[in-house]
Amino acid sequence: MSKIRPFLKWAGNKYQIIERIKAVLPPGNCLIEPFVGSGAVFMNTDYERYILADNNADLINLYLVLQSEGEPFIDYCRSFFTDTNNREDRFYELRDVFNNTSDNRLKSALFIYLIRHDFNGLCRYNSKGGFNAPFGEYSKPYFPEKEMRLFHEKSQKAVFQVADFRDVMRGAEPGSVLYCDPPYVPLSTTANFTSYSSGGFTLEDQVDLANLARELAQKGISVVISNHATEFIFNAYQGAEIEKFDVQRYISCDGDNRGKAGEVLALFNGGISA
Ligand SMILES: C[S@@+](CC[C@H](N)C(=O)[O-])C[C@H]1O[C@@H](n2cnc3c(N)ncnc32)[C@H](O)[C@@H]1O
Repeated sequence: MSKIRPFLKWAGNKYQIIERIKAVLPPGNCLIEPFVGSGAVFMNTDYERYILADNNADLINLYLVLQSEGEPFIDYCRSFFTDTNNREDRFYELRDVFNNTSDNRLKSALFIYLIRHDFNGLCRYNSKGGFNAPFGEYSKPYFPEKEMRLFHEKSQKAVFQVADFRDVMRGAEPGSVLYCDPPYVPLSTTANFTSYSSGGFTLEDQVDLANLARELAQKGISVVISNHATEFIFNAYQGAEIEKFDVQRYISCDGDNRGKAGEVLALFNGGISA
């Protein structure tokens, strides 16, 4: 099966290392992703059912519109990818529309437009929740028509939720497998920019995630987690089967830490695959 690129650019997306993740993920009847992001793992695995969650409401609303509407929505999104709209003044006008509209369909289409036209494909918000990534100056932003169509088709197997990872994990049913791709722990104490949507992901959140993974494994539900290979993570993931490797990051979760970084894939084994 050839690899499918996510239709959104997304910090930390797992397209590059998908084969490694697939090699670790146990079988099951449902894959739950509490941090779905651009859905690289969803698009490149073959489970019967999916529960895909994220606490970014703009992202999940976009998936819900694409799931239910398909082609007419893809056409509508394409209509924003014009030469006129690929200008700085127009970008900031449309960013304002995005931040002020209550029209869900328009907001979802503009979300794709913004991420494809902004600097580095950033999804970044200010403290009030307003999208604030600057204009990207690309000569011809790519409209991901094929990728959206594939997502629409596959999304018929999925249930989407706007939720905190704790709620999603507590709701996991036996027979499911979880893949968790949280905002990574900083590589050093000074590298602390971990904000995807408003609100950062704290070290307490990292510990909660590890504890919930351990609890689920004890109930027979396997959990795989990706993260940076740091002392903090090795401590937090004690008891898990850990694979460590290097990966080249192009869009880093942390602008100061582009380049090579050690990563881990930790399997909290619920024993289903045994
Ligand atoms: C590393 S990205 C996931 C990337 C994804 N695997 C992909 O391939 O695109 C982390 C995601 O976690 C989400 N997130 C951050 N804090 C969260 C929380 N408390 N609960 C649920 N999702 C959260 C972010 O919105 C972001 O989409």
